[in-house]
Amino acid sequence: MEFELAEWSSKIEVGLPMIDEQHRQLFDLAATFRGDGDQIRVLKSLAMLTEYVKVHFREEEELMASCDYPGLAAHRRLHGEFRRMLFELLENAKQMTLDEIAEEVKYLINGWFYHHILVSDFDYVPSVQAASAPAPNRD
Ligand SMILES: [Fe+2]
Ligand SMILES: [Fe+2]
Repeated sequence: MEFELAEWSSKIEVGLPMIDEQHRQLFDLAATFRGDGDQIRVLKSLAMLTEYVKVHFREEEELMASCDYPGLAAHRRLHGEFRRMLFELLENAKQMTLDEIAEEVKYLINGWFYHHILVSDFDYVPSVQAASAPAPNRD
């Protein structure tokens, strides 16, 4: 699927500080792939990006589970799809040029991931907010 590429902006802030911080970190990390670099540093950054993504997805899935978000299973599948694309890149990276790696990271983060936040992450936020709101007084 083709996505329009976009940079991080307040437009994709979901309003949950922990999640927004993690999203921002991933965009910051992805931005380091542009420009000159050496193969070793780029491969290290790629491993770091993969690790950050794993942590972020795990925390997001725990958050969704804790508020009984009904779309959890579908959301989890999307996370799995993204993790697979990222692992595939990690495996192929040694045979790729730095420009090709940067291109692919841009597609994954500024394309897929940006779009995922806008559509799928925004969708679970009301459930999280409802679950953390004080319980109504039933007297
Ligand atoms: Fe997210
Ligand atoms: Fe997500």
